[in-house]
Amino acid sequence: MQTLLVTGGAGFIGANFVLQARKAQWANIVNLDKLTYASNLQTLAELQDDPNYCFIQGDISNFELVSYLLAQYQPDAVINFAAESHVDRSIFNPQDFIQTNIVGTFQFLEANRAYWQKLTPQRQQQFRFLHVSTDEVYGSLNPNDPPFKEDTPYAPNSPYAASKAGADHLVRAYHHTYTLPTLTTNCSNNYGPFQFPEKLIPLTILNALDGKPLPIYGDGQNIRDWLYVSDHCDALRVVLREGCIGETYNIGGTNEQTNLAVVERICAILDELAPKSDLNYSSLITFIKDRPGHDRRYAIDCNKINQNLGWQPKENFESGLLKTIQWYLNNSAWVDYVRTGAYQNWMKQNYEQR
Ligand code: NAD
Ligand code: DAU
Repeated sequence: MQTLLVTGGAGFIGANFVLQARKAQWANIVNLDKLTYASNLQTLAELQDDPNYCFIQGDISNFELVSYLLAQYQPDAVINFAAESHVDRSIFNPQDFIQTNIVGTFQFLEANRAYWQKLTPQRQQQFRFLHVSTDEVYGSLNPNDPPFKEDTPYAPNSPYAASKAGADHLVRAYHHTYTLPTLTTNCSNNYGPFQFPEKLIPLTILNALDGKPLPIYGDGQNIRDWLYVSDHCDALRVVLREGCIGETYNIGGTNEQTNLAVVERICAILDELAPKSDLNYSSLITFIKDRPGHDRRYAIDCNKINQNLGWQPKENFESGLLKTIQWYLNNSAWVDYVRTGAYQNWMKQNYEQR
């Protein structure tokens, strides 16, 4: 069985990936996470007695710590999920995004380069550095533009997207310059269990259940491509196993939706699953001041990963959204834990002062 060093494995996608990998028992996992506001170790509670899983609190920017972990655990591959990931937070406070997403990725690459250069030629050939990135690096599409392909030029528009673009370029350079065996994936918007409720789908579900306004930026006609998180995790496993070294792969759900349509669909499902006698949830929809520099449309062309590696999503938007809503309805303890004082402060900063 492979040993993987996973970073950011206490966040939304990383934790789903770790849980899936341990459930299917295809990898031993060493999970390095700084435990920022976006993480929650409760997500991983079921692994606490798993001898093939271990957790280390730490920062990907810590060259010494990462070097120690690589030497100690001798991973066959690393997957870098660790990042500051929320666009609105990057507008208020870009510093953290530059630090983790660019400087952190650089330090992490440096430690991995030193580790990889000392491996035997056979292990060097087998090693993989998989960097998890976003479709936001490609910028914004007009209504009739074709979806993003792997060779679409980078045009990041938010501090978050720019910091992820910087990280992607460093990963690319470490392959071209040092022949580090890298892979990069650029994925569209994920949704599913364990997503921190600052992001549109969990925020809408939880605000609705609390009878609070459902905030929609601008006119609600911005378009995102939505992918259920377990499909993203499956894609990462396929890329890790079969991806071509040095290449990038776009991952998406081929499921473009306006934000208003997403929120209205959540309201309709909640009207069925958690009806309130005095209101339809859609009456809570509230249009608010737009996000500065708000990208209008993202769409992903997944032909490369589909045709070359045989991946395609298993969930459609209807089945994935239903599962997601049911998960939030059934996991109030997890929800209560993440909506602590720090979360309340964020809600004030982003919504009350708008
Ligand atoms: P998240 O914010 O839920 O989790 C990020 C995790 O990284 C947290 O557990 C946090 O504690 C950890 N972390 C942050 N800084 C760190 C550091 N310096 N060192 C170690 N750990 C650190 O993010 P997510 O939504 O799970 O996204 C994971 C990755 O996937 C990110 O790189 C993101 O850019 C990318 N991505 C996300 C989406 C999406 O829709 N959520 C889509 C495409 C790509
Ligand atoms: O495209 C991939 C990206 O998707 C990832 O790289 C990011 O890490 C992830 O956060 C996500 O970015 P978005 O900005 O698209 O996600 P968010 O859930 O914040 O917003 C989705 C859309 O909904 C976006 O157009 C903004 C809008 N929105 C968001 C919030 C939080 C609202 O209208 N109201 C809101 O309150």
